[in-house]
Amino acid sequence: MQRTLSIIKPDAVKKGVIGKIASRFETNGLRIAAMKKTQWSRREAEQFYAIHKERPFFADLVAFMTSGPIVAMVLEGDNAVAKNRELMGATDPKKAEKGTIRADFADSIDANAVHGSDSPENAANEIAQIFAGFEII
Ligand code: CMP
Repeated sequence: MQRTLSIIKPDAVKKGVIGKIASRFETNGLRIAAMKKTQWSRREAEQFYAIHKERPFFADLVAFMTSGPIVAMVLEGDNAVAKNRELMGATDPKKAEKGTIRADFADSIDANAVHGSDSPENAANEIAQIFAGFEII
């Protein structure tokens, strides 16, 4: 059993597809162990994406992730990290496989509908930034 963090980004929240995206997880063996709708401050977004702070897209990423509400979820299941990444599809929706969340709901590499942790170590770190232990059930 493994945990990973999923974030439904501002573009997908604005489109009204929170339920459709959550349903992809639930129908593919990922249980929602915690769920929270919130809006990040610039400081929170910068902290969450600190591993990307030297990348040329960092400022745009922070601006986008603070542009509206997001929905964060802790997903739990066998191989949750890899399973979530498979369901999301490639970071760039133009390269995402048909039937993946990003192919179906994302518009661009910035407005790409969802974020998912890329390793169990980063998942633990990302989950701890958003959820208190008692909120994960
Ligand atoms: P995410 O999984 O949230 O992790 C970092 C985000 O930066 C990524 O999704 C994209 O939305 C965004 N991004 C913008 N440009 C790039 C790029 N060239 N490579 C990777 N991520 C990018």
